[in-house]
This record gives sequence, structure tokens and C-alpha cells, in this order.
Amino acid sequence: MNNTYGFDQNTSAAGILIYGSTGSIGLNTLSVIEQHPDRFRIVALTAHSQVQRMFEQCLKYHPDYVVLTQEAAAIQLRMRLKEAQQTIEVLSGTNALQELAYLAQVDIVVAAIVGSAGLLPTLAAIRAKKRVLLANKEALVMAGQFFMDALRHYQTILLPVDSEHNAIFQCLPDGFRCGNQPEGVERIILTASGGALRDLPIRALEHATPQQACQHPTWIMGSKISVDSATLMNKGFELIEAYWLFNLSLSKIEILIHPQSVIHSLVGYLDGSLLAQLANPDMRIPIAYCLAWPQRIAHRVPACDLLAYGKLEFKAVDTRRYPCLNLAYEAIRIGGNAATILNAANEVAVQAFLDQRIVFTQIAQINQTVLERLPYREISELELILEEDRLARETALSILAQQFSVV
Ligand SMILES: NC(=O)c1ccc[n+]([C@@H]2O[C@H](COP(=O)([O-])OP(=O)(O)OC[C@H]3O[C@@H](n4cnc5c(N)ncnc54)[C@H](OP(=O)(O)O)[C@@H]3O)[C@@H](O)[C@H]2O)c1
Repeated sequence: MNNTYGFDQNTSAAGILIYGSTGSIGLNTLSVIEQHPDRFRIVALTAHSQVQRMFEQCLKYHPDYVVLTQEAAAIQLRMRLKEAQQTIEVLSGTNALQELAYLAQVDIVVAAIVGSAGLLPTLAAIRAKKRVLLANKEALVMAGQFFMDALRHYQTILLPVDSEHNAIFQCLPDGFRCGNQPEGVERIILTASGGALRDLPIRALEHATPQQACQHPTWIMGSKISVDSATLMNKGFELIEAYWLFNLSLSKIEILIHPQSVIHSLVGYLDGSLLAQLANPDMRIPIAYCLAWPQRIAHRVPACDLLAYGKLEFKAVDTRRYPCLNLAYEAIRIGGNAATILNAANEVAVQAFLDQRIVFTQIAQINQTVLERLPYREISELELILEEDRLARETALSILAQQFSVV
């Protein structure tokens, strides 16, 4: 079945497994897929605990399998589907997530779980040699070299869904595969909107509420990535993601604030040419690109009207405003377990901010303290990565309990 594109695109509709179908990327993926019933067939959908939304997706898309990782939610969904006389197999637990990747009828796996919970399922998809559409950047950030070694070992095709990396991928020479070093490339430029709080005075940042931080100026996304965008931790993770996917040294990766989010990223070649991908900020565009690659498919996204935008602006990043970005640079320079620690600490800190247990500026403080407190380790095995992730979470939680009073 596998060929250079990850599966035979000429035979029949490609079987799709979506990890995280009830989230923002999951919903956008389904919206593209439902416009192309001849090309794609939903084989399996997964979520953590959202029963109602998953029930609706079952009625609409008729997957063969569903996984809700939370057991109680899976039991509820089974009952609802039985009442509705639907014969869909509902599984629960994290092992079930991984098993789905090996189903023969799955060709494409959309990795759209948020956070480190996505690592094991994404690795399973890589090992099963399915085409992997990677949105779940945290999986790559936390496992770095191990993740890329697996990709090379299994010769799996990975396509980046993240709009910036997708833009870069689109601007790289034909035949480029993630993990290789692109030829003739002098630099890449990742663009950043600056997040929801970019115009707030720095001294006012500590009073920013979760609601304000989640009101992204140009993208509609899940709450965790919205907060990460406001701290620019998201751009830091994208820096790490680019470092691994495009196999470039840090000195070749630049970041620019571009408030309109129309230029999604750029590739600079040795001859001075800069290639960019422009589009409205709508995740259905990179998702559709990855689903149909190397072809292109139409979908219901308005064309980009440059006259309506009028001007496209660029600014340097003010690192005083975004200390989390410096931590990402630091994590790459340190290597070993540093990015694993940063990712885990950040998940704990962002959740504490969303739960209103800490203020916005304390996210970076917690991340930095955890990164400084835990010793350097090489992490060449999966067990070590998971252990470092656990240690960093524990450390972040204990710092939270000891040093940060409830706001
Ligand atoms: N949103 C965007 O536009 C965007 C853009 C680029 C990259 N990304 C990346 O894509 C990923 C998903 O982002 P999102 O914004 O779509 O997140 P989201 O809206 O919060 O959705 C997350 C999905 O993951 C599931 N999930 C959460 N915790 C889980 C767990 N412990 N085990 C299994 N499944 C779990 C959720 O299920 P429940 O609904 O049941 O909780 C939901 O389906 C993130 O890594 C993000 O950085 C997102």
C-alpha cells in the first residue's frame, strides 16, 4: 500500500484517523474532509472526554472506531450510541489510541491532540508508517531527536499542519521530506502574530485574564495554544519544531512579528530570493494541503484579498515582553532533556493560569524555575523522555504549591 506519498492515492478514498477530533484542529479537519467524500473516509475519531461532541460526530461521520481516553466518558458514549442504534466500536484508554494507528484501513493520521498526551499515539502512527499530519507540536518538542530518529527509521512521511511550518514546507524544493536538510536554503523566517496581548503595556500583562489571553487577534484556536501564543511560548515551540523538521541550525531560523498573519512564513535562499506562502489565517488551508498532498483540493475558504489588508507589517520581537521565547532558545542550546522539561512545565503553568491560580507573567517564571532546577540529562530512550516529563510536571506543581499564592 505504501509508496513515496505514504499510501496509494489512486485506488480509493484514503482512510483517516483523527487524534483529537473534538478540538479546534479536529473540527477544521472534519470540515475539509466532509467536502471531499470521494477522497477521504473517516475510519476513527478520538477525544479525551467530550461525549456530546463525539456523539454528534459519530452520527455525522460514521467512524468504525472511536476512542475516548477517559473511561467514564467512553461508557456514556456507548450508552448514547446504543440508544441511537449505532454500531460503532467505542474504546477507552491511551493504549487504544495507539492501536488505532495500526488499523490496515488507516492511511492518514491527523495528530491533533493537545500537549504531551499526543506523543505516544503520534509515535505509534510513525511506527505504523502511516502518513502523519502533525499539528501536535508538543510531541515533537518533548521528544526531539528520538521523534526524528523514529521518523527516519520507519521512513514515514510527516507533513506539518502548523501554518508556519506548512508555509515553509510549501516553499521548499519539490521532493523535500521533513528531517532532511533543504538544499540552497540560507534561512527561514517564522512569522508570529504576537498573540492576544501584544498591544497591552508590559506592566499590565500581570493583570491579563485567561479570557483576554485566549482572544487571539487572527486565529481561532484551543485555549492552551491561545495562551501559548500570548506568551510566545508557542513560537518558541515552533522554533524547536522548525529546528527538527527542517534540520537547520538555530542561526538560520529567524522570527518576526507580523500582526496580519497573512504571510505564514518565508524561506530565504542562497541567491537572495525569499519565498513566502500567503493565505487568510484559516487552519483549513494547511490541513487541506496536507490531506491532499502532493495535489491540491478546493475547500470553502475565502480567497486572500490583499487590497482588503492594505498593508503587511513586520516588527522585531521584543523579548522583554516574551521571556518564554528566550527559554525555547535556551532549551535548544542546552539540548538533552531541556525541551522536554520546558514543555511539561509550560503545560502545568498554562493550566494553572487558565484555572486562575497564577497570573499571566508567572507562566514564564514557572517555566524558567523548572528548567533551572532540573539537572541536564541525555534522553535517548522513550522511557527517559516520559520520566523527565513526569519529573518536570511534579517540580512545576510543587513550585506552584510553595511559591505562587492563589490569585
Ligand atoms: N488550533 C489551532 O489552530 C492550531 C494551530 C497549529 C497547531 N495546533 C496544535 O494542534 C494541537 C491541538 O490544538 P487545538 O487547538 O485543536 O486543541 P484543542 O481545541 O484543545 O483540542 C484538543 C483535542 O485533544 C483532545 N485531548 C485533550 N487532552 C487529551 C488527552 N489527555 N488524551 C487524549 N486526547 C486529549 C481533546 O479532547 P476533548 O475535547 O475531549 O478534551 C481535543 O479533541 C496542539 O498541539 C496545538 O499546538 C493548533
